[in-house]
Amino acid sequence: MPRDLEGARAIVTGASSGIGAGIARAFGEAGASVIVNYHSDEAAAAQVVDDIRAAGGQGEAVKADVSQAEDCARLFAAAETHFGGVDILVSNAGIQKDAAFTELSLEDWRAVLDLNLTGQFLCAQEAVRRFRAQGHDADRGPAMGKIILMSSVHQAIPWAGHVNYASAKGGVKALMESLAQEVAGEKIRVNAIAPGAIKTDINREAWEDEAARKEMLKLIPYGRIGEPEDIARAAVWLASDASDYVVGTTLFVDGGMTLYPSFREGG
Ligand code: BGC
Repeated sequence: MPRDLEGARAIVTGASSGIGAGIARAFGEAGASVIVNYHSDEAAAAQVVDDIRAAGGQGEAVKADVSQAEDCARLFAAAETHFGGVDILVSNAGIQKDAAFTELSLEDWRAVLDLNLTGQFLCAQEAVRRFRAQGHDADRGPAMGKIILMSSVHQAIPWAGHVNYASAKGGVKALMESLAQEVAGEKIRVNAIAPGAIKTDINREAWEDEAARKEMLKLIPYGRIGEPEDIARAAVWLASDASDYVVGTTLFVDGGMTLYPSFREGG
């Protein structure tokens, strides 16, 4: 991994597993210091921190429920204490609570919107406040700060049986673009990544069993299910100054899932 984030200070939410853990590890390998946020799996977060340290980086595990404003603030306070500030937020934490539309409880609607959309709003808001308070140190790079929101192909692809999740990700698109427009003039770069099917716990039932895996592959023109490292490499680039002119963009990393693969045979 090229050290494209040498000296950068990052917060990655939902970093004890899946895509978040992959990003935290890759950031460490790329030279960043990383606050590894977790919600409940302390041991897994500690392992990610160990991996970052083994790669020669700095990492700290911090427990926080990012759907709560005080908890988001705690992550930024930790970055201040341990690293002296923050340059990059990757707002990644998310969940699924799937149900057919008429079976979807208000509780599960709210739980998904609270974490997957409001949680991203709260952490991004805290990030912008902190970036402003720190000011722009040109020695740290051309941007004053960088925010990467975690969207999904389902910001664009409707998803029956998952209206809470798809609604949240559609919201993330609007949040990211509106925020990017609002703060770009201050040299804060806001972008999003929209992963497709990445092999993690969130979609285990769609890839673990052979029959399900075959069905899933029909939706992916590139012919393989993604790995957290596929997203992590995109995140390193988007967080680095190599992407300095990329502002308000959603980077789809999906093996072509958004290319309407069923039209290969139809239409
Ligand atoms: C979801 C996964 C799903 C993928 C592709 C992601 O956003 O979290 O469960 O496999 O989109 O449909």
